[in-house]
Parts: sequence; structure tokens; C-alpha cells
Amino acid sequence: MEQGKLLIKHASELVTCSGFAAKRGEAMADIGVLADGAVACSDGIITHVGTTAEVMAQVDEADYRVVDARGKALLPGFVDSHTHLVFGGYREEEFAWRLRGDSYMSIMERGGGIVSTMTATRDATPEELLETAAERVRTFLEMGVTTVEAKSGYGLDLTTELKQLRVMRRLDATTAAEIVPTFLGAHAVPPEYKGRADHYIDYVIKEVLPEVKREELALCCDVFCEKGVFSVAQSERLLMAARDLGMSLKLHADEMADTGGAALAARLGTLSADHLLHVSGDGIRHLAGSRTVATLLPLTAFSLREPYARGREMIDAGCAVALATDLNPGSCFSNSIPMLFALACIYMGLSPEEAVTALTLNGAAAVGRADRIGSIDVGKQADMALLRFSSYRFLPYHVGINIVDKTIKRGIVVADHATNPRIYQS
Ligand code: NIG
Ligand code: FE
Repeated sequence: MEQGKLLIKHASELVTCSGFAAKRGEAMADIGVLADGAVACSDGIITHVGTTAEVMAQVDEADYRVVDARGKALLPGFVDSHTHLVFGGYREEEFAWRLRGDSYMSIMERGGGIVSTMTATRDATPEELLETAAERVRTFLEMGVTTVEAKSGYGLDLTTELKQLRVMRRLDATTAAEIVPTFLGAHAVPPEYKGRADHYIDYVIKEVLPEVKREELALCCDVFCEKGVFSVAQSERLLMAARDLGMSLKLHADEMADTGGAALAARLGTLSADHLLHVSGDGIRHLAGSRTVATLLPLTAFSLREPYARGREMIDAGCAVALATDLNPGSCFSNSIPMLFALACIYMGLSPEEAVTALTLNGAAAVGRADRIGSIDVGKQADMALLRFSSYRFLPYHVGINIVDKTIKRGIVVADHATNPRIYQS
């Protein structure tokens, strides 16, 4: 047996999600299911994919560490393409206020919300941020997530934005997950710039973005384009500056109100337009005609008691839809992949197949990595999730329950239900 060689055989279903770019519309239902499947990998890369008989004819089993996957479905590792993973403090009191009827935006307007997490994040040491985020990453790995996009945006000043992004780099190096860092310096207007959003955008463009670039701390730049936060014009100004520096783009669009964010994202060809709870029919048409992925975050709609994004309509219109958690301390303190599957299928009308594509290949496309991750294809990174059940259909059906048996990152088992079931007995 050689180090770095892994063979998984006899998977009851091998769900390949084969592809190297986002799938749109009808194609999202095509996930490529093989019965009695096998995958071989070497040095973190997938080398063979097929039925067990096909793969066994090409490899010498004695060279491999072997996982017998009888009765278990094997899928690509999940890609959570939208999170706010690194933050200080919590906002449990705001959650209680919302239960009593306060709205998310009204809490933000009176100085709570993102600015409250900003203060806690400015006060936190890098080690504190690293420790709490690493624990969230462990939970992700147990649920089959092998890649996590993470946004800054709780610093809203040079020092703290860089602190958050450097923590992400350390998370990428020290945890088993792959962390994709996004710069979200325009997440809110900080108190220092109250009432002067344009000046804040100037500051971000002139003082912060160049430093982020100099240290190569972020792959993408994102903006909270929202009524009462940053306008379409302000968002565009910042995104164009980021593009000039060679960064990929993302956009929080039409979450609380329709401001034309989706059309802006489509026009700029951003990797994704995210949230879209209030996107107009016109916005959907723009997305369908573009290469931008529509990233939907139903855990946020659920947590805020907002209407769900019209996922079914978007897929029927020909959009490429991704699903992500939006994990953050305010609007959505959840990274529950099981619940995400259930909400997407039960309330947004996605089929189990579409939900699987949305959380694998399309998630990978939403972070610009569909060439490397998001499917079980020869040449891709060996990132996979093995389920405790025989079919991917159990993902939305076993509501709210984590059914991942093993998570494999770059050919290594990094979470194993058999040895770490997180069952605490007295
Ligand atoms: O994606 N919408 C803006 N940002 C987050 C919420 C962040 C927060 O409340 O701390 C979101 O929902
Ligand atoms: Fe978000």
C-alpha cells in the first residue's frame, strides 16, 4: 500500500456531477449516477472513475488504502460558496428581537447588526478568530463540506479586514478544508463614515483594496449592494476597481429589496449574484442570459422569516443555481448542510438532483474553481462525501440529519463518522 493512494469501491451510487463549468437550467438535473461505482485517487487527484469492475480492471488493489462503500452513496465534496466564517462575538439578542417583530434592517439602522459584529471582530485577537472559525470548519467537514468560501467584512477598516483575511489564510493552511477568501470591505458603512458611503467606498478603493492585493489575501471582491447600504453605482465603482487589480467578483444582490443588483452582476459577469430573495423577473432574465451563478441561501430566508428565493423559476428560466449556507452571526447563524438540502427541496422546489448540482459543481463555479473541484472527474482534486445511506436522495429526505459517513479531502479521510460520531454519553 502506497501513501497517498485511496480506492473507494462498491459505492451503491457513485454520483459524479461530471463537468468543468456551472450547469444551467435543465442540465442541473443531470448528475451522472453509476451503480456499484468506484473511484481511485493518487496524491490527492482522482485517477480512475467507473463501475467497480471497470476500475478494478485498471488498478492493483494492493497499492491502495481501500474503503468498502457497500450500501453507501458517494458524491463530490460539498462546496459552500457563501459564508461569513470568521467573526468575533455573537448576536443572540438580535435574534430574540426579531422573534418579537423587529426587522433585520431596523436593527442595522439603529447601530446593531453588522456594525455590532464589527466591534467584536476589531476587539478579537487573531488567535480567538482562528479558534472559533476552526471549530465551525470542523462542523463543515463532518457534514461533507470540503471547500468553504469565507468573506471578510467585519473589520470595515484596513487593520481588521487584513486580520480577518490573514486568519482565513491560516485556516486554509491548518484545517483540512480549502478556504476561498473573499474581500467584503463594503459590507456596511462603519460608524467613522456614517452618512458618507461614497467616501467609505473611496477609502476602500484607495487604502484597503491595494493592501489586500499586495498580500494576495483574497481571490474575490464582494459588496453588500442593498437599499440603505451600498447603491448599484457605489457597488459598481468598487467592483470595477477590484477587477482592475485582477480579482474575481461576487455580489450580495436584491436580498432585502430589489435594487437591480442581479442585472449589475450579470452585466459585470460576476462569478455569482447571491441571495436574490427579492429579485425581479427582469433580474432573473439577466442572470439566465449571463455566466453569473445565482447563489441561493435558504437558511437565511428561513432565519429571517423572509420569502424564499424563487429557485424553481430561476432554473426553469435557464439560470445556473448554487446553494450556500451564508453562515454568519446575524441573519443566519447556521451552517447546517442537511437543513439547507431540505429547505431547497421542500420550499424552493428544487429536485434532489438539482440541489446536489447546486452544492457541488455550481458551488465550485461560484468560487471560480469548477476546473479543479465540484465533481468526481479524472484529474480533479479527490474531494468526496460518502453517505451512510444508499442514495443521494436521502440528503433532503432525512430532514435535518447529518448522514455523511466519511469526508475525503485531497484523497485523505478527514472526517469519519465511525471514529468521531460526536455522540456524547454520560
Ligand atoms: O449575507 N447581507 C449581508 N450580509 C450577511 C449578514 C451579515 C450579518 O448580519 O452579520 C448576509 O445575510
Ligand atoms: Fe452573506
